[in-house]
Amino acid sequence: MSNLSPRALTPSGEKTIQPTIRLEDVHKTYDLGEVKVNALRGVSLEIRRGEFVAVMGASGSGKSTLMNILGCLDKPTRGRYYLDGQDVSALTKNELAKIRNQRIGFVFQQFNLLARTSALENVELPTIYAGVPIQEREKRARESLELVGLADRAEHYPSQLSGGQQQRVAIARALVNGPSILLADEPTGNLDSRTSVEIMEILQKLNKEKGLTVVMVTHEADIAQYAQRALEFRDGKMRRDVAVQKRLIAAEVLPTLPSVDADGVEVLGKNADGKGSAKGPAISTD
Ligand SMILES: Nc1ncnc2c1ncn2[C@@H]1O[C@H](COP(=O)(O)OP(=O)(O)OP(=O)(O)O)[C@@H](O)[C@H]1O
Ligand SMILES: [Mg+2]
Repeated sequence: MSNLSPRALTPSGEKTIQPTIRLEDVHKTYDLGEVKVNALRGVSLEIRRGEFVAVMGASGSGKSTLMNILGCLDKPTRGRYYLDGQDVSALTKNELAKIRNQRIGFVFQQFNLLARTSALENVELPTIYAGVPIQEREKRARESLELVGLADRAEHYPSQLSGGQQQRVAIARALVNGPSILLADEPTGNLDSRTSVEIMEILQKLNKEKGLTVVMVTHEADIAQYAQRALEFRDGKMRRDVAVQKRLIAAEVLPTLPSVDADGVEVLGKNADGKGSAKGPAISTD
């Protein structure tokens, strides 16, 4: 009870709807001896369960620092972080590692797969740390690969997969322990336009069908357009928090994009009108 946030319970003891993520005046200072870098300077933020949020902002504005704190990879220098009502800013490294393993999935720009390990084994790895019984691990990893449409690539090594497929393996790995939050730091940064939208299709599906909370950093305004809400960071502060207008649905955009045929030649999809950018219209979040 002591580590529940004040808003988790009403005075009568009733549960209220609380945000899954709540930051209160979070600061992060990197101390490099002579120099101190104020990467986050007073960020307060609430994200409800099942939201799909894009985080934008120039290089160095604090986006990855924010994600590291949200993902319990790092702690705020000052301020509080409540995860499902629990104050995690005060937990030990071991306690944070446990939360990370069970409740949070991570996806990065570089897919971070182990090279000499099959897709299936890559996806299985977090189940080992979670103490999943050995006979369960493979089953869970296969289910997770199925979720991202890669059941038929389980035995492939990363070098035998395309960039988009590797990112899907990374997503399957992030999902294998059944987290409630997926944190993606530039998940499409290394992918071409069409493949980026394919990744958005998977994230939107997981968000809609599994109720997964998604927080995604992106530099690209047209990728942010697939989220429901967009945050903008500048100089360590959150400067904008807006609902995405005219949200794009990846499953509707994909048929309008050129696809690549077996010879690597771009061909237009069935419903293609041949107009517009490959990633859809630019963001308009105002
Ligand atoms: N481990 C670290 N030690 C010292 N300074 C750091 C560290 N990590 C980040 N910084 C600094 O903190 C600030 C915010 O960095 P951060 O990585 O959060 O930016 P970002 O918005 O993710 O940028 P990018 O879009 O380039 O990924 C930058 O000035 C950066 O140099
Ligand atoms: Mg970054």
